Amino acid sequence: MDSDVAISQDKIEGDAIAVIIAGSDTSGCVLLFLFYYLVKIPSLQDDLRNELSATNGDWHAERLEKLPVLNALIKETMRLFPPLATSGLRTVGPSGLQLGDVYVLPGIIIAMPMYSFGRLESCYERASEFLP
Ligand code: HEM
Repeated sequence: MDSDVAISQDKIEGDAIAVIIAGSDTSGCVLLFLFYYLVKIPSLQDDLRNELSATNGDWHAERLEKLPVLNALIKETMRLFPPLATSGLRTVGPSGLQLGDVYVLPGIIIAMPMYSFGRLESCYERASEFLP
């Protein structure tokens, strides 16, 4: 892309608003449900507190992304309560798409229903329970 192309103030403001909403609405939703489960299941609070205490204040991303309890809590929350319940609408390209046994024709629009997938008993044992 040509770096000299001018971008209007309107477009910059529009992008800024989109990123603010994309980042805050989603993260806020995950934190809401995560805190709900921490309150509901106090032993999870203890596990998380112990894990975070053992970091001695080293909360760099590289360290945090390796903490098993923290990451299990986040992933389990997002499995049961994905902020975008159905997202990722995509049009299949000109060669079509093989998904397991199913061939999807070119031009078909497919979606990823995250909320439903996250609760499928065929994919998860006791799918509706919070089991980080
Ligand atoms: C738990 C937190 C988040 C979740 C669950 C989430 C989920 C998603 C999903 C599913 C998409 C793909 C939508 C699609 O193309 O069909 C997406 C795109 C995007 N997200 Fe997030 N997001 C999160 C946090 C953030 C944060 C923190 C930011 C920015 C600070 C952000 C910015 C964006 C942007 C800019 C896109 C569009 C990317 C593109 O199409 O080029 N998101 N997000």
